Amino acid sequence: MKIAVAGKGGIGKTTTAAGICRVLADRGEEVLAVDADSNNCLGYALGMDSRLVEAVQPVSEMTELLRERAGVSASGAVYSLTPEVADLIDEYSLREKSLRLMVMGSIVQGGAGCACPENATLKAILRELVDLPVHIIVDMEAGLEHLGRGTAMALDTLLIVTDATAPALRTVRRMIGLAHDIHFEDLRYVGNRVRSEEDAERIRAELHDIREVRMISEYQDLAQDDVFAGEDGACLREEIEEIVEVLE
Ligand SMILES: Nc1ncnc2c1ncn2[C@@H]1O[C@H](COP(=O)(O)OP(=O)(O)O)[C@@H](O)[C@H]1O
Ligand SMILES: [Mg+2]
Repeated sequence: MKIAVAGKGGIGKTTTAAGICRVLADRGEEVLAVDADSNNCLGYALGMDSRLVEAVQPVSEMTELLRERAGVSASGAVYSLTPEVADLIDEYSLREKSLRLMVMGSIVQGGAGCACPENATLKAILRELVDLPVHIIVDMEAGLEHLGRGTAMALDTLLIVTDATAPALRTVRRMIGLAHDIHFEDLRYVGNRVRSEEDAERIRAELHDIREVRMISEYQDLAQDDVFAGEDGACLREEIEEIVEVLE
């Protein structure tokens, strides 16, 4: 599966993305977890060794390399936007058995039409990742900017995480609008922190035009450094296993 996990800040994107990665990787399947959020929490949520996670070099910091791969001439003109990414991934990702983590870092802000080589290369990397014969789960930046840039659209499915609050649901509506604008078809949602049937119904009513994957319950204390740690983590794992089944 090739999935971008999106939604408002603090909604549960990293929790959901890390959970999906872990379910697949724990079965021994090859997974590439891509942290595309600039606060870089995915590695910790995956339960990887924090010292190793800290040492992962974000792709965005490799300015020289990005320029080289993007084929920038001395005058600054971009003459090729097809960098070879397979070796990049091997060099710059953290591997733990069948799970690999790649950190994008903060993408240079330059507006929707920004053609600076770093942005172009990051987009190209995402586009090429799609062809790798592994599961790719991208933990997206909060908000809508990446949709404007079309980065998420290199993937097959946009999985939107929301809770039942009005701001979260408004964000989802705007995302659906943007995705429709660029004719992206496979939009689905996960309702998170669902405390009651009322919460679930509110989400369903608002998002009736896209596919529901599943509702996730509200937990008391999920660990920050490993989504599946502890008793709550074990219950969350069962819920995420069902999400993976639906997505397959
Ligand atoms: N279903 C849930 N129940 C309880 N806490 C949750 C749930 N989902 C996420 N959280 C917590 O909410 C916080 C934000 O989640 P996170 O996945 O980091 O959001 P995002 O990546 O969208 O910013 C974290 O502390 C996480 O443990
Ligand atoms: Mg996050």
